[in-house]
Amino acid sequence: MKTDSIYGAYNEVLPQVMRTLTDKVIQFNWERVQSTGHPIYEHFNYRVKSEDSMREKCTRRGLPQTPESALLELKDSIGLRIITNFVDDIYKTAAFIRDLPNVTVITEKDYIKNVKPNGYRSYHMILQLEAPYEDIMGNNPGKWYAEVQLRTIAMDSWAALEHEMKYKKSIANSRMIESELKRVADELASCDVSMQTIRDLIREDEN
Ligand code: GTP
Ligand code: MG
Repeated sequence: MKTDSIYGAYNEVLPQVMRTLTDKVIQFNWERVQSTGHPIYEHFNYRVKSEDSMREKCTRRGLPQTPESALLELKDSIGLRIITNFVDDIYKTAAFIRDLPNVTVITEKDYIKNVKPNGYRSYHMILQLEAPYEDIMGNNPGKWYAEVQLRTIAMDSWAALEHEMKYKKSIANSRMIESELKRVADELASCDVSMQTIRDLIREDEN
């Protein structure tokens, strides 16, 4: 059977591999609600990278548009984005993911402690998942890559706006907008710290 997917024969199995991780994150949140009365994240999105963006990224990186590039060279065919109310929920969730039995952390980038020059903040993890599906190397259980981005609501709304600007080709006053974005990123970060402090005071008796 011929398939035109850049993911080749693995196109169908990728969502199932992703499920093995998303199920655990959802379960973790549910357990937190049971034990503390508060969710660990505000919302949670996940996706298999679309054909078009995967092909575009291969080309941008000088890679051929093949399943090997999409599944092995690039490590974000599976992507999770976890949006929290508070900064410490990011680190708690990252610790939970790090300790999962079928997960190996490949890289972690803390853009909260090491803020990007444009003001971007988030916590990124590249994971290798072991899942009960044969992978492109013929392993079963197979090894699959996934990217996890963890951010607060404030970091997320900032990133969405900054992304919008980046993809708009010609934009008037772009230097002014960049410096305003940087300023706002720092203000939001300061609010995130204050929100966390206030929450800790309100929940003082809960830990
Ligand atoms: P790609 O950016 O995906 O090619 O990979 P990378 O090796 O540069 O990894 P990095 O961890 O820097 O970025 C991975 C993803 O994080 C990106 O695809 C974006 O979704 C997000 N990201 C990183 N930097 C920025 C940024 O400056 N602004 C916004 N809006 N998103 C960013
Ligand atoms: Mg990047």
